[in-house]
Amino acid sequence: MSINKVNNGLKIFSIIVGINLVLILSYSFSHSNEPVQEEKEEMVRHEENTNCFKCHGENKYTMYNADSSSTITKLMPRELFIDTLEFYDGTHKTFKCSDCHSDEYNSVPHNPELRFDPMPGCIDCHGGDPEYEEYKFEQIDEQFQNSVHSKAHTDNFACWDCHDAHSYKSTARADNGIKDMVAYNNAMCLKCHANTINYMLLSDEENPDLIAKHEWLPNQTQHFKKVRCIECHTSVSDSVLVAHEVMPKDKAIKGCTECHSKNTRLNHTLYKFKAAERRDKNGFFNGAILEESFVIGANRNIYLNYGSIAIFILVLGGILIHAILRIIIKKKKNHVG
Ligand code: HEC
Ligand code: HEC
Ligand code: HEC
Ligand code: HEC
Ligand code: HEC
Ligand code: HEC
Ligand code: HEC
Repeated sequence: MSINKVNNGLKIFSIIVGINLVLILSYSFSHSNEPVQEEKEEMVRHEENTNCFKCHGENKYTMYNADSSSTITKLMPRELFIDTLEFYDGTHKTFKCSDCHSDEYNSVPHNPELRFDPMPGCIDCHGGDPEYEEYKFEQIDEQFQNSVHSKAHTDNFACWDCHDAHSYKSTARADNGIKDMVAYNNAMCLKCHANTINYMLLSDEENPDLIAKHEWLPNQTQHFKKVRCIECHTSVSDSVLVAHEVMPKDKAIKGCTECHSKNTRLNHTLYKFKAAERRDKNGFFNGAILEESFVIGANRNIYLNYGSIAIFILVLGGILIHAILRIIIKKKKNHVG
């Protein structure tokens, strides 16, 4: 029996256990705090931000001019559209628009001067705050300052260029699978690296063709689904969960064995949080690798290796006993006949 079969067996078992857990948990949640939570969110939604979403959350907006007592209806430009659902799914969902933007935006048309308002950055709110210490905002900021992006565009590249101000959420700590996390994270980079207009806003150079530039990588599509851009483009950092120093291109990882080896780099990057979490929970060393896809060449779980050897011996033993019994029975039959 192969390790894969053991893996499948374990998977089926954990899926059954998982489904039961989800049922129990969702039952207890639906009978405890869900309505209260929903009510709270509804309150926030309706009272504060509806006025802004009336225009910025719709494909078109209508404006009234008191002087000429006329109304106009226009399309809301895509870049000023804010997705209501994504906003309320984000980390800062309890915010009012005016927590970051001027109150003056309540009057339309907006005063053009407001465009020059300085916007608060992550560090303005989170820097030096012990409550957010585990995120190490200061170290992330330092790594970001050393990144190619910040160095090339000091004044125009900010945390918000990757972390959408209106839908920011952390997936690195979330419980959904690695596949979703990879897709979410890579979309952050592709917002510019696969979009000429957004790239152009920062640089006059031509946007390099990503597919051509990664031609050396076999199964490119498969890789881009299974690893994040930052796996190869940031230096490994053990002090923060997500490394933020995007290095110049000539320092990017090209060697296959950096990932496809026993001591895979991915244990210090992509699988870091998941692996640590599982290690705490059930002592498995390669929790993430076990549960999800694992990199070919990375070390498999040692208990499973022992387990499969044991099963192999048992199977061999079974065959042997079976064979011996058959011989005995045959002999007996011959004897009788
Ligand atoms: C009646 C429709 C309408 C309402 C209501 C409205 N906006 Fe706008 N907003 C617009 C339009 C149109 C633009 C683009 C033209 C401009 O910049 O004035 C815009 C632009 C903006 C901009 C971008 C300015 C820039 O940098 O170019 C921000 C920020 C903004 N609105 C925030 C808000 C906030 C916050 C609210 C709620 C307090 C709000 N808006 C309510 C129509 C509206
Ligand atoms: C956590 C802070 C924060 C909150 C809350 C926030 N914004 Fe923003 N908003 C920003 C920042 C920062 C920018 C500039 C983004 C950039 O430079 O990429 C921005 C830009 C905008 C723009 C210009 C388009 C864009 O995306 O660059 C609009 C329109 C806007 N905000 C509307 C709103 C509305 C409406 C709300 C409430 C539903 C809101 N914002 C809540 C931080 C915030
Ligand atoms: C205007 C102030 C402000 C800005 C700007 C801001 N945050 Fe926050 N952030 C908060 C507040 C307040 C909370 C707590 C929200 C809550 O619990 O409802 C929070 C929560 C968080 C959390 C969750 C912490 C936890 O323990 O659950 C993370 C992570 C986070 N912010 C990251 C960021 C990042 C990254 C940026 C910049 C891209 C940023 N924040 C910008 C004020 C801000
Ligand atoms: C080049 C893109 C990029 C820039 C610029 C960037 N980040 Fe990030 N950041 C990421 C990615 C990708 C992640 C992983 C996202 C996820 O799944 O949570 C991340 C995650 C984070 C997290 C969550 C880490 C954790 O422990 O859960 C924080 C906090 C954070 N960034 C803060 C910042 C701050 C502060 C800045 C600006 C100084 C910044 N980021 C600029 C790409 C960027
Ligand atoms: C398996 C590692 C790996 C992954 C994953 C990866 N890259 Fe790269 N990338 C490289 C290497 C190595 C180079 C340098 C190629 C060369 O110079 O021949 C490079 C080059 C680049 C360049 C510079 C192109 C130029 O020549 O100017 C950009 C931009 C880039 N990558 C962005 C991304 C983005 C965005 C993603 C995620 C969608 C990504 N990369 C995923 C390894 C990787
Ligand atoms: C807001 C747009 C934007 C986002 C988001 C963005 N980049 Fe970039 N990136 C650029 C621009 C512009 C350059 C060219 C910098 C310059 O002018 O030298 C660049 C350059 C690069 C380079 C090449 C550096 C070199 O040596 O030529 C790499 C690698 C890179 N980015 C990777 C990433 C990764 C990985 C992410 C996501 C975590 C990301 N970028 C997100 C705009 C962006
Ligand atoms: C940043 C880490 C990383 C690097 C660098 C890397 N790989 Fe991979 N590779 C992965 C991951 C993760 C998978 C997905 C494993 C899976 O799905 O089972 C993968 C899958 C593959 C696959 C199987 C694709 C499929 O269709 O299932 C091949 C073949 C492969 N890599 C070859 C290479 C070669 C050759 C190189 C060097 C040129 C390389 N890889 C570099 C992480 C990496």
